Amino acid sequence: MIALPEPDLEQHLAAARDPKPYIDIDGSLERALILAKAKDDLLPSHQLFIGPPGAGKSLLVTNLAAELKLPLVSLDCSIRTREHHLIGRLDPHGEEVLFIPGKLLVAVRLANMHGSCVVRADEVNTLDPGTQKAINGYMDLWRTGFHIAQINRTFRLNEGASIIICGTMNPLGFGGVGRLNPDLAGRFVGVHRLTYPDKRAERRILKKLCPWANPDVVNSIVQVASDTRAKSGSGVLDYVLSTRELEYFLITLHKFGEEAIEDALQLLIHRFDNDRTQSSVADTIDGVFGTSFKDVYRRLSKEA
Ligand SMILES: Nc1ncnc2c1ncn2[C@@H]1O[C@H](COP(=O)(O)OP(=O)(O)OP(=O)(O)O)[C@@H](O)[C@H]1O
Ligand SMILES: [Mg+2]
Repeated sequence: MIALPEPDLEQHLAAARDPKPYIDIDGSLERALILAKAKDDLLPSHQLFIGPPGAGKSLLVTNLAAELKLPLVSLDCSIRTREHHLIGRLDPHGEEVLFIPGKLLVAVRLANMHGSCVVRADEVNTLDPGTQKAINGYMDLWRTGFHIAQINRTFRLNEGASIIICGTMNPLGFGGVGRLNPDLAGRFVGVHRLTYPDKRAERRILKKLCPWANPDVVNSIVQVASDTRAKSGSGVLDYVLSTRELEYFLITLHKFGEEAIEDALQLLIHRFDNDRTQSSVADTIDGVFGTSFKDVYRRLSKEA
């Protein structure tokens, strides 16, 4: 006998309640919402978000689920993720064999209870090609149902119910990034490209996220990030500062007070890998903050 135990649903129902806000500078969230609402019998609403680290992809999807007032199931994909993690596995218990559902089946359950459910598959491209293939069938669930041979059972969505699968990934070219199978990529109806915001937009985001921050410091740190991104584009630096790191910088200053600015800036510099790149960023910071930061940095490095 195969039994299906009740999954714990509460965490998924709570996951998109009152999230940190996503500031929709370029309309990506709005477009994603339009597509999500456009789904019908002929069109699913699976969406793929491609953008560099810390550009806000995962946060956008959480906000998508929140706007739609839907439960959110998140999958942290990696090269080690196997089909049985996602779909489920048999677990013998004496006479009985339990089938422990993976998160993708939990999502079917939630969708049938709530009319719809958002699945956020973070770093979906890091799944190995075999596991990506296994997801293809699940992506077609809205049309065909999803058959699990192990327990000889087909899972279907109730009339009118849907699952919105949102994949996130870094663009090719970022460390450790694998390829997305074309057959999986092709099953996403909408593909959204997120980039780091321009200076004006990034100032807007940071002022919303950190309303207590000193506007001069916000302007300066945004300028530093913009310069590091330009230097990375021209090959001088091999790392860029993301909006997330700028937010962390501002929060650190808020916690430790502005007299800690040199230490906070040094933490930013240490995100870069070697003497050459650290020195280049120290130059940029020096120029932007208009202090003799480089001297402070040298002194701190010597003390360390
Ligand atoms: N438009 C935005 N609105 C709000 N926060 C943003 C925005 N863009 C970037 N951020 C920053 O990014 C953080 C969220 O990053 P998130 O984890 O969603 O990025 P990601 O693109 O999924 O990164 P990773 O590739 O590392 O998973 C926020 O906490 C905030 O600091
Ligand atoms: Mg993410």
